[in-house]
Amino acid sequence: MNWRSYLTHLECTACGLRHDADRLQTVCTACGKVLFARYDLDGVRESVRPGDFRQRRWDMWRYAELLPIRHAANVISLGEGMTPLVRVRHEVAASLGLQRGELLLKDEGQNPTGSFKARGLSAAVSRAKELGATSIALPSAGNAGGAAAAYAAAGGLSCHVAMPCDVPELNRVEAEVFGAEVTLVDGLISDAGRVIREQAPANGWFDVSTLREPYRQEGKKTMGIELAEQGGFGADCLPDVLIYPTGGGTGIVGMRKAFDELEALGWIGAHRPRMVVVQSEGCAPIVRAFENGERFAEPWQNAQTIAAGLRVPAAIGDYLILDAVRDTSGTALAVSEEAIREAQLEMGRVTGVYAAPEAAATWAATRKLLASGWLGGTERVVLFCTGMGLKYPSPL
Ligand SMILES: Cc1ncc(COP(=O)(O)O)c(C=O)c1O
Repeated sequence: MNWRSYLTHLECTACGLRHDADRLQTVCTACGKVLFARYDLDGVRESVRPGDFRQRRWDMWRYAELLPIRHAANVISLGEGMTPLVRVRHEVAASLGLQRGELLLKDEGQNPTGSFKARGLSAAVSRAKELGATSIALPSAGNAGGAAAAYAAAGGLSCHVAMPCDVPELNRVEAEVFGAEVTLVDGLISDAGRVIREQAPANGWFDVSTLREPYRQEGKKTMGIELAEQGGFGADCLPDVLIYPTGGGTGIVGMRKAFDELEALGWIGAHRPRMVVVQSEGCAPIVRAFENGERFAEPWQNAQTIAAGLRVPAAIGDYLILDAVRDTSGTALAVSEEAIREAQLEMGRVTGVYAAPEAAATWAATRKLLASGWLGGTERVVLFCTGMGLKYPSPL
């Protein structure tokens, strides 16, 4: 495949200020909000057709035109992306209440390091290296630290991770096995983020925190492009409903961006899946803001949940997540810790997928949405199984 990225610039999602994409950047220099990568979509439309992807490499880098890496040699890849859409047996979907619909699991646990974090960090670490970084740093509630450490190891960068001291043990172990320096912080991911922001400038570490760095969501965006490709592109290729376990929200923000770009390219129509945010009752700042009609979310106090990746009391991209939910007529709901535990076991028993608790939260949410009538039982529903369960404490 001829490698070419059509990346043109970075643009602030709040004040619109344009930034140079070919310098290391974190947030908007004027207002501190999230930057989006922008592409020459006319150029993409002229150079590639959706059918061309079939001939290409079997990972997320098959969408190179819509990704930010200028030179193929700078891509740090462990084979991320192109995860299956696992179809749940009809009788199981029907027993949940989807009698005439379809239930699919986007099994992101099959990514390198066992979670969808691989996509974002493959993109971010590759681009950081391309722009000259030699060290990266980030806070992590769980899986992001391991993924960052793996891609840093593969690319020859050093990696510094700050994690809450009670993260699942294997998340810490995995980051250390990949050679990262891990600092355990007595607090939450927001406290770990403060530690990174204090230490990064003096040590020359490039901060790749969720949505403070512009390219992680470009990697996550490929989940949306993949869904369109798996549906055959065209007007009706996307499912009716996407159910997504939300912490920092990079995936939901990235997928929404993917659909907008694909529509501008003419590869999909105007139809959008309704996007559903799922959080735990122990930490649900986005759900509370959605219910209160707010665009920004107040930080959640005393966040606590077994779904470690959802223990994010404040998200810098809150307004982008809430816009995605509202603009697609989606919804946001919280599920109990008990429901997450039960769902994890039920999913394992009836689907063969050992899902992380975050992913199990989407199963519990599906039950709730069917019971309340928000889902009518006829939809094509995709649950984002964002991580594999094996890295977490046993649910038994
Ligand atoms: C398995 C899993 N699911 C979901 C999330 C939340 O992802 P995001 O921060 O993109 O909302 C995380 C984050 O750590 C995670 O590890």
